[in-house]
Amino acid sequence: MMGATLTVLGIESTCDDTAAAVVRAHDLPQGEILSSQVQGQTTLHAAFGGIVPEIAARAHVERLDLCVERALIEAGLGLPQIDAIAVTAGPGLIGGVLSGVMLAKGLARATGLPLIGVNHLAGHALTPRLTDGLAFPYLILLVSGGHCQFAIVHSATRFERLGGTIDDAPGEAFDKVARLLGLPQPGGPAVEAEAFLGDPDRFRFPRPLLDRPGCDLSFSGLKTAVLRARDGVVARHGGISIQDRRDLCAGFQMAVSDVLAEKSRRALRVYMGKATGRTVFAVAGGVAANAPLRTALQEVCAQADCGFTAPPLRLCTDNAAMIAWAGIELLAIGQTDGMDLVARPRWPLDQTAAPMIGSGKKGAKA
Ligand code: KG4
Ligand code: ZN
Repeated sequence: MMGATLTVLGIESTCDDTAAAVVRAHDLPQGEILSSQVQGQTTLHAAFGGIVPEIAARAHVERLDLCVERALIEAGLGLPQIDAIAVTAGPGLIGGVLSGVMLAKGLARATGLPLIGVNHLAGHALTPRLTDGLAFPYLILLVSGGHCQFAIVHSATRFERLGGTIDDAPGEAFDKVARLLGLPQPGGPAVEAEAFLGDPDRFRFPRPLLDRPGCDLSFSGLKTAVLRARDGVVARHGGISIQDRRDLCAGFQMAVSDVLAEKSRRALRVYMGKATGRTVFAVAGGVAANAPLRTALQEVCAQADCGFTAPPLRLCTDNAAMIAWAGIELLAIGQTDGMDLVARPRWPLDQTAAPMIGSGKKGAKA
């Protein structure tokens, strides 16, 4: 593929962001984002305290056409200048995934362009190649609202999972903690802002699974510990003050960061034990937007003498540029799909790894 220019339209609709983007690669690895449109749905779900799948799916259906049109206009291109249509085919809320897949199939059928189904997690995991041109293999920590795992990225299609959460994802924990402290959704940025003004040592929350070897993580107990601490304050003082809330957020964020840092240390040891040549640890997914966490992980890497990279914030949270990029990587190795491409609610990144405990009745989430 040296010397070839590939331009791909990406479509993303797995959760509560409707997104479309155009990305171009002159030489792999590394791309140029020609456009990136993201329409969030926060206000649509605000009254419900969480994402309502049916509302999300309906909003995707209503907005996707326009979002794609805007992405093409922003890129200054028409469909004839596009080489392929990449779409997230899972894992995610099935109604939303279906909306994107159906639109992509329609576009591919109408234009005759190749269709490429992309794993949403692969989109996050390959982002450091789009932004930094990282060479394989690198270690990735994927931390988002629905997922949490360490994986060695060997290629655009081979991901070796080293460990992951056995219950909640950290973003989910941030969102739940925000909810129980009366903060807005998505919880991550709100908790981070409060934590900035809080004392992380006032409430000492547990560091789950640190006593267990390996890189698996758990976040549901932490969320319960915050709930108990909040109730304790309420019982003593009849309510929580602004400073109580800040301190609870700071203590919680510090616990998440400590656990992720220690598990990253362990994952790095496994990865660096196998790797030859330059080693890099990358963090991706919505929670990677958390500044204290990025700093903690950067320190872990400095101590281990490993490179560190984190995509810019707008590419950490859900977007379609990462899907277009993953599409470019797959197109470059000739991996395209037919009209039988299916939307998948579950789609593990490493299909050879055993499903995680608590990964649900329908199979492995991650
Ligand atoms: O990757 P993403 O946009 O969607 C998923 O695929 O899940 O991640 C969204 C998650 C939400 O749970 C949100 O609260 C969290 O990322 N998040 C953060 C921050 N910004 C977003 N968590 C902690 N700190 C942040 N600054
Ligand atoms: Zn995501």
